[in-house]
Amino acid sequence: MNAPKWHLRDEGRPRLPSRDSDQRLTVRLASVVGADAVQTPDPSEDYHEASRIDPGVVDPTVVGAAHLDRSVAMKLSVARSVKRHPHLPVVALPLGDAGNATLAQVLRTRRSRRAYVEEPLRLKELATLLGAAYGVTGEVPGTTQTFRAAPSGGALYPLELYVACRLVEGLEAALYHYDPLRHALERMHELGTAEQAGELTPYPALLAECQAFVVVTATFWRSRFKYGARAYRFALLEAGHVAQSFLLAAEALGLATTPIGGFFDRRVDDFVGVDGLYESSLYLLPVGRRADT
Ligand SMILES: Cc1cc2nc3c(=O)[nH]c(=O)nc-3n(C[C@H](O)[C@H](O)[C@H](O)COP(=O)(O)O)c2cc1C
Repeated sequence: MNAPKWHLRDEGRPRLPSRDSDQRLTVRLASVVGADAVQTPDPSEDYHEASRIDPGVVDPTVVGAAHLDRSVAMKLSVARSVKRHPHLPVVALPLGDAGNATLAQVLRTRRSRRAYVEEPLRLKELATLLGAAYGVTGEVPGTTQTFRAAPSGGALYPLELYVACRLVEGLEAALYHYDPLRHALERMHELGTAEQAGELTPYPALLAECQAFVVVTATFWRSRFKYGARAYRFALLEAGHVAQSFLLAAEALGLATTPIGGFFDRRVDDFVGVDGLYESSLYLLPVGRRADT
């Protein structure tokens, strides 16, 4: 079969007719907020430019790949891609079970759901969500490096998941850290009140009533040592992968969840005890029993 080839350039390529037959006017959104005349320096544009990859140009900050190739110690270190808290009590998690819903079903029905009923989450449900989001699913052949449920640039897994559990069967109300390598939770410290959780976002109701919420953070240097500035993009992309699997697993279990990108960064960083620079919060994922079922 003669499959058509991809065209890299536009020259001579026939154009498909537009399918938008009513030719609606499109508002140029940047101009609405005056962004046509971008302030300089504009950190977003600067960052995007600085993290581009061009043929034949090697980012001078990308030095770790060569070191990694040569160093057994570094290879062992990247294989252990999770924060360790050996002094903390550990709660082993049961194996997950996402039930019988099909992918087609959960893709069709997933919605951001923000209303909860006050009923405990089961430990197995929480274990299913964490495993679906970032659990270990295999090993890179010939190494001790893991594969996870989410893809990761270089299989470096720079993200960490913290879980604030307010009402989960078999768990004390507390902040936990998820260790995917052990599929276990490390108990960090007691939680504050629901009001304090509410203060983490501009909309208190988003977190005050869910039974648990996950804070996804990135430890940027776990990836930056190898990919330089590009690693920041990779961390954000990976957080999206993790969140999507979490959301789909929650949908399969009939739970309510909403991804939250609008939160007070410094408060969330303080809440999970990270400095916001070496490790920073990226995403919140509340979860609980759905009010509408
Ligand atoms: C990156 C990102 C950030 C979001 N942040 C918030 C948020 O801070 N608060 C909120 O209520 N919903 C948030 N959402 C959820 C969106 O409002 C929601 O996905 C959108 O309305 C589409 O609805 P659906 O998820 O039900 O399909 C966010 C979604 C994404 C992808």
